[in-house]
Amino acid sequence: MPLTERSLSTLGERPFGVYVHVPFCSVRCGYCDFNTYTADELGEGATRASYADTAILEIERAGRELTGAPAVETVFFGGGTPTQLPSADLVRILDAIRRTFGLADDVEVTTEANPDSVTPDSLAALRAGGFTRISYGVQSAVPHVLATLDRTHDPAGVPQAVRWAREAGFEQLSVDLIYGTPGESIDDWRASIEQAIALEPDHISAYALIVEDGTAFARKVRRGEVVMPDDDETADKYVLADELFSAAGLGWYELSNWATDDAAQCRHNVLYWHSDNWLGIGPGAHSHIGGERWWNVKHPAAYAQRLAAGESPRHDGETIDTATARMEQIMLEIRLRTGLDLDSLGPEASAAVPGVVSRGLATREGDRLVLTRTGRLLADAVVRELVE
Ligand SMILES: C[S@@+](CC[C@H](N)C(=O)[O-])C[C@H]1O[C@@H](n2cnc3c(N)ncnc32)[C@H](O)[C@@H]1O
Ligand code: SF4
Repeated sequence: MPLTERSLSTLGERPFGVYVHVPFCSVRCGYCDFNTYTADELGEGATRASYADTAILEIERAGRELTGAPAVETVFFGGGTPTQLPSADLVRILDAIRRTFGLADDVEVTTEANPDSVTPDSLAALRAGGFTRISYGVQSAVPHVLATLDRTHDPAGVPQAVRWAREAGFEQLSVDLIYGTPGESIDDWRASIEQAIALEPDHISAYALIVEDGTAFARKVRRGEVVMPDDDETADKYVLADELFSAAGLGWYELSNWATDDAAQCRHNVLYWHSDNWLGIGPGAHSHIGGERWWNVKHPAAYAQRLAAGESPRHDGETIDTATARMEQIMLEIRLRTGLDLDSLGPEASAAVPGVVSRGLATREGDRLVLTRTGRLLADAVVRELVE
């Protein structure tokens, strides 16, 4: 990775995180276009059994290149389904990150998990190995919604998976939900929200279902086999979620993320939203260090081959120019409860602010511009006004 002196010099100045992509799932959900593979799809040249060793080669390689990297503040294992790998493998990868870069004393180490991919023992091994946070993909409490999403878990097993995580010593626990699945009524969504709240997580993410081109789900939508809800219904579901989460003590801190307090926020995602520095490990993983962005080859076999040959898995990269960086900062910061720094705006964006405020889409809080709930529903339009 040909990093410039300038980007390397930011390493000591900004929080540093590591993302580890684990590209395996037992079943592919029809709506998902993440870089992940079932055992059948994987083919030759990459196996789950060899994955940890391959990822460790990449971590060691990056350690030689990222001279001056500070201790890692956040680690996030995402996927795919990281918990498809034995916990011992995930812990070995975390150990390699610790050995290579060091971990901050208060490091946050999250893994995503599907509720049917964990056991009391696997969770205990993760906690003992240094993991501090679990993020369960729950999506819905309603069987017909889960079936439309191709989710494999029985919703009745979710409280048990949460209990096991608590018994293993995980105090930080997040739940992912999806709303706007075809056939989901407002009462179905209310049931999912209420079940999620009853689990007493310290963090909830709720995302509107996106129809991703090229997925099995997109083909069903195109053929008219399933019908996506209209924008008004999706907006009503967002408002319901925000009302019920707030009433339960979970406040929004990013458009689609709610937490019980500042300490419960996902620090790793906050690091992305602040455009801090992170190293992405694994096939297709993206990295960003001080304005240099790059990404790895996508297929696990090509990724493994490169590293086995002593080569970099990097596929391509780009330098982010000042204008793009400013635009990205607006797009990311406006999504946060802490809002957009008004002093950082250029003349054109500043000129758009009074209109946004007078229409009730945002308020000025000191030197920050913060979206109202109505503004959150129209966040993309607000961004367009500020960047055009
Ligand atoms: C890629 S998954 C990885 C973790 C785990 N395998 C799971 O499904 O929970 C992370 C989150 O992205 C969500 N996701 C994937 N595709 C999506 C889409 N098309 N629209 C909205 N959310 C999506 C998943 O439902 C999940 O909550
Ligand atoms: S949503 Fe999660 S479980 Fe489903 S295919 Fe995507 S990564 Fe795998």
